[in-house]
Amino acid sequence: AIDPQFHENREQVDEHEGHAVWGPVDEPEELGIHGTHVAVDFDICLADGACLEDCPVDVFEWVDTPGHPESERKADPANEAQCIDCMLCVDVCPVDAIDVDAG
Ligand code: SF4
Ligand code: F3S
Ligand code: ZN
Repeated sequence: AIDPQFHENREQVDEHEGHAVWGPVDEPEELGIHGTHVAVDFDICLADGACLEDCPVDVFEWVDTPGHPESERKADPANEAQCIDCMLCVDVCPVDAIDVDAG
């Protein structure tokens, strides 16, 4: 599962489409965590897609990740600023790849 303390245990190493990327990153096998308020551990996500289907405000968008051992696309929290903290995505992800910091 994603480490809920990732902002303390990891360092921001990059930015992607306006959100943070928390390392370590070593493409294509190791991709880190995308987002901060809505954070998706790309190294755990296996492209189930439930988060994209269920998010009421369409926070997630597919991003292609060719060569990653778990899956070749990931749910990117492209619109994390729109999150309303409903926690649906956290509940439906079968591998607990998502952390939402609802404060
Ligand atoms: Fe979408 Fe709710 Fe998850 Fe926020 S907590 S990203 S609104 S499903
Ligand atoms: Fe990935 Fe979990 Fe969404 S596996 S696509 S973050 S439901
Ligand atoms: Zn991203």
